[in-house]
Amino acid sequence: MKTRAGVLTAPHKPFEIVELDVDDPGPGEVTVKYSASGLCRTDLHLEDGELECRFPIVGGHEGSGVVEKVGANVTKVKEGDHIIASWIPSCGVCRYCSTGHQNLCDWGAYILDGVLPDGTTRFHSKGTDFGQFMLIGTFAERATISEHSLVKVDSWIPLEPIALIGCGLPTGWGSSVNVGEVRVGHTAVIFGVGGVGMSAVQGAAMAGAKHVIVIEPVQFKRDMAAKFGATHTFDNFEEAFAKVKELTWGQMADQAMITVDTPKEEIISNAFSVIGKGGTVCLTSLGQPHEKNIHVPGLELTLYEKKIKGGLFGSSNPQWDILRMSRMYDAGTLKVEEMVTTRYTLDQLNDGYQDLRDGKNIRGLIVHDN
Ligand SMILES: NC(=O)c1ccc[n+]([C@@H]2O[C@H](COP(=O)([O-])OP(=O)(O)OC[C@H]3O[C@@H](n4cnc5c(N)ncnc54)[C@H](O)[C@@H]3O)[C@@H](O)[C@H]2O)c1
Ligand SMILES: [Zn+2]
Ligand SMILES: [Zn+2]
Repeated sequence: MKTRAGVLTAPHKPFEIVELDVDDPGPGEVTVKYSASGLCRTDLHLEDGELECRFPIVGGHEGSGVVEKVGANVTKVKEGDHIIASWIPSCGVCRYCSTGHQNLCDWGAYILDGVLPDGTTRFHSKGTDFGQFMLIGTFAERATISEHSLVKVDSWIPLEPIALIGCGLPTGWGSSVNVGEVRVGHTAVIFGVGGVGMSAVQGAAMAGAKHVIVIEPVQFKRDMAAKFGATHTFDNFEEAFAKVKELTWGQMADQAMITVDTPKEEIISNAFSVIGKGGTVCLTSLGQPHEKNIHVPGLELTLYEKKIKGGLFGSSNPQWDILRMSRMYDAGTLKVEEMVTTRYTLDQLNDGYQDLRDGKNIRGLIVHDN
């Protein structure tokens, strides 16, 4: 079978749209016809050489679609089922899956290179093997993926917008709700409101935070944040810090979620300083793989029992959290369509990412024409 796909062949080069051969599904695999794919910042980290992977690779890790073909021994889905692809695979049996931490599944070892555990790939062209980013490669119109990398969703839910429930929504929402543990009456600060940060705003507001404070340089994103539940927005840290101090009578914030594009040391230090006693910094942003970017006073960490926690996929369990978020959207309690700023064709993939760089999008969405 043939497919068109957005691929990266080397760092610092834009996506190319090429035609590839897709393997039929082997045991435990399915071929998916993708409907839509979100434009998350993480693919740009590959393009910018800030995350290292094996090239060439089919990009995209936030998608939804329909199962077209089913390989042997697949029990989770059948032909025609609607799915959200999960860039976090869940094998179901490793130590982490079996103890309720599917975001840390051992299959995570394969996701950056996008090569399946047996060392083979499912995309090929003229003798060259192409990996599929996060094992799903949602910038392809069709892909063959493991059943560990998908979640079946209800067939009546519109497929296009729920692509975003593959990454940005659970990652951001879970950064606030699971990692930060926002509770009723808390004060939460969110650094950067792209697709992930806006979902962190939504999560903090839904969890009952009294104050949801956003720091974001782009005006239109600050305006949007108010619609997702932000109570105060700032374009600089100093004013935000002063407001948190005033609102909390000096106790400072309960959480700071870092969802900027690149987690520079200054931002992490600012986040650490804006939380109070017992507070939590959740570091969700990726990039700068070799940088030691956390430098905080250990005494303050100890005496105030402050915490700095990493957040992978918002500490969500894809098999439950993707399903429940799709049903929250269906019930009208989770804003998903509102997250999509602009729709693009696959041929406009680089334009979509340029718009992200230019600060024009909360989320761009590729709608596949197939
Ligand atoms: N840990 C995970 O599981 C996970 C999953 C998905 C994405 N990510 C990472 O999360 C980050 C955010 O992803 P995204 O798709 O929302 O990116 P994005 O580019 O859409 O959003 C980043 C936002 O940060 C803002 N920003 C830049 N500098 C800032 C500053 N100094 N202070 C405040 N805001 C600032 C930008 O204007 C932008 O709105 C990326 O690093 C991405 O790779 C992590
Ligand atoms: Zn992502
Ligand atoms: Zn596992």
